[in-house]
Formats: sequence, structure tokens, C-alpha cells
Amino acid sequence: MAREKTWQDLINVADLFAGDATPVSFQGRELAVFDTKEGITVSLARCTHGAANLCDGYFNGTHIECPLHQGLFDARSGAAVAAPARVPLRMLQARVVGGVVQIMA
Ligand code: FES
Repeated sequence: MAREKTWQDLINVADLFAGDATPVSFQGRELAVFDTKEGITVSLARCTHGAANLCDGYFNGTHIECPLHQGLFDARSGAAVAAPARVPLRMLQARVVGGVVQIMA
């Protein structure tokens, strides 16, 4: 039987790159924690178009540009907003409690 998902600590807010994307490994997965202008969001770090870690791309506070082919994603929703990115990012449910970013996992 599958374990029920629960909130899990991911990283302290103080350890994030302020206003930027921070790579975090969690249970064998590479995640991207985005310090967006509208709050913290978390997605899988791998670009949906190819083998790039989005944390190596340019982040403007709302959108992340892939470092490989410059596909663009909205880091708040995960939406793919500019080619060649077409498939949205897989976002993880996230929250901040007591200065700690948590994800539902
Ligand atoms: S690998 Fe990210 S846009 Fe191609």
C-alpha cells in the first residue's frame, strides 16, 4: 500500500537564493525552489524540453528561462509560455511554515 503523502521539510527559507531559483535534491529528485515575487513555488528542476536544470537559467522573479534553448516557463504556475518549451513544469504543492519550505510528498 502506498504511503500517504505528508508535508515534508525541504529547505530553510534563509538558505534560498533570494529572488532566484535554488536547486534542491529531495529523495533522489532534483527540484527547483523559486523565490517568486508572489511567494515560494517548487517544481521538478529538469526542463520539460530537454536535459537542462532550470536552476541554471535566468530567473526574473516570475519566469524562468531554460539555459539550453531559452524555453520560458512561468515559475508561479509551471506554464510553458515560450517555445521550444511546450509541456508545463510539474509543480509540487508547497508552503512555508516557520521559515521552512515544505512540500507535499
Ligand atoms: S532543454 Fe529547456 S528549452 Fe530545450
